[in-house]
Amino acid sequence: MPVTILLGTQWGDEGKGKATDWLADSADIIARYNGGDNAGHTLNVEGVTYKLHFLPSGVVRPGLVSLMGGGMAIHPQRLLAEMQTVSDQGLEISPERLKLATNAHLITPAHQALEAAQETVRGAGKIGTTGRGIGPAYTSKIARDGIRAASMGNPEAFADEVHRAVEVANTILTGAYGAQPLDADAIAAEYADYARQLQPFLVEGWAFLRDALAQGKQVLAEGGQATLLDIDHGTYPFVTSSNPTAGGALTGLGIGPGAVERVVGVAKAFTSRVGAGPFPTELDNEFGAMLRGDGSQPWDEYGTTTRRPRRCGWLDLVLMRYAVAVNGLTELALSKLDVLSQFEQIEVAVAYEIDGQRLDDFPVDQSAFARALPIYETLPGWDADIMGVTHWEDLPAAARGYVEWIETQVGIPVTLVGVGPGREQTLLRV
Ligand code: GDP
Ligand code: IMO
Ligand code: MG
Repeated sequence: MPVTILLGTQWGDEGKGKATDWLADSADIIARYNGGDNAGHTLNVEGVTYKLHFLPSGVVRPGLVSLMGGGMAIHPQRLLAEMQTVSDQGLEISPERLKLATNAHLITPAHQALEAAQETVRGAGKIGTTGRGIGPAYTSKIARDGIRAASMGNPEAFADEVHRAVEVANTILTGAYGAQPLDADAIAAEYADYARQLQPFLVEGWAFLRDALAQGKQVLAEGGQATLLDIDHGTYPFVTSSNPTAGGALTGLGIGPGAVERVVGVAKAFTSRVGAGPFPTELDNEFGAMLRGDGSQPWDEYGTTTRRPRRCGWLDLVLMRYAVAVNGLTELALSKLDVLSQFEQIEVAVAYEIDGQRLDDFPVDQSAFARALPIYETLPGWDADIMGVTHWEDLPAAARGYVEWIETQVGIPVTLVGVGPGREQTLLRV
């Protein structure tokens, strides 16, 4: 059973890029299954930092093949720019190494304009999106009005399709939102050019994976965003518009559940959130600022995609247990244990109190979740720099105790522990 799914368990930015890179050691294909360039995945390999948005984290490893799956939303111009950026950093980007599934959907400037108008109308209730046009692109998909990557195979017909889509969006932009219309002719011409450039990368994603699996290849399915941003299982409406949860890997790639052997959830040793929405363990105080960092370290909590400061708080085991259940996680990769070294004591939420009642399970009803007060347990800190530790046994006892306690609380093993951003700053537990 050669597929491993790797996904975020919290609100994103758990360190999925680094964990994917680590697990990619034993993979042949890395396949991103959802989202677009709302994702920002940072990898540090031999002193070089790569910031990936559309590209699967496998592109940093020579010899691996990367697939952008049908569950993704792709902005052709920004994808081409990212391909250029990493090529300039010395990575090989070629149709042999990078593939784009024909059923992926395309983002146009109209989607971005619509999103800006929608966020303005939402006013105080705005979601705080990344502004990349992700929501409207998936809206087009579900409304059956979207444009799929396959259409780029015929750039002339594709230009007509883009033209029509922009004209339709213009009626909404001008009629519903009083916004300026976009220049459909110019966009269609631009998109025909992007199609010519991206055409060689197109594959039938499902067939590519079917053949790879038949040949015994190992596939690592990489999620963007995270469980609590899932359109179905997340903190709706403050979510993204795709399925980062494990089921999204199956629909987003066109593989069956029987092929999946491991489901690895990446969790930060604390919690962060970008954008709006409830966050019970948020620390709007000096501890929150300590978790975030002042921006002087590359791993400080400022968005990879938008540079927005991330909201930070303690680890929340109610959410972790929820992520274990809805994803069928088999194990956890715990990142950023090093960031907790600065605390004498560490708090972890084990349950909530809502309207005077104790609640152990995540409430899907978001009006209840918004009222949830964390019930904390306090664990001892370790007062030592652990960024140079290379073996699990060499961690201070309290640091090991923190990880082992999490394991008992969530019921699955923590197989990887991150103590720094570098590839080598990963402790293996198995
Ligand atoms: P992703 O979106 O889940 O891939 O995560 P991001 O790349 O947006 O954010 C994670 C940040 O933490 C990046 O700057 C990583 O280089 C960094 N990082 C990952 N794992 C660790 C770790 O164990 N310790 C530290 N200090 N930084 C880490
Ligand atoms: P990675 O893959 C953190 C958040 C946005 C916003 C909400 C909806 O790096 O973990 P969208 O633009 O998707 O419609 O915004 O989702 N969001 C993320 N937060 N990490 C991400 O990706 C995110 N992708 C989207 O901040 O709250
Ligand atoms: Mg990120």
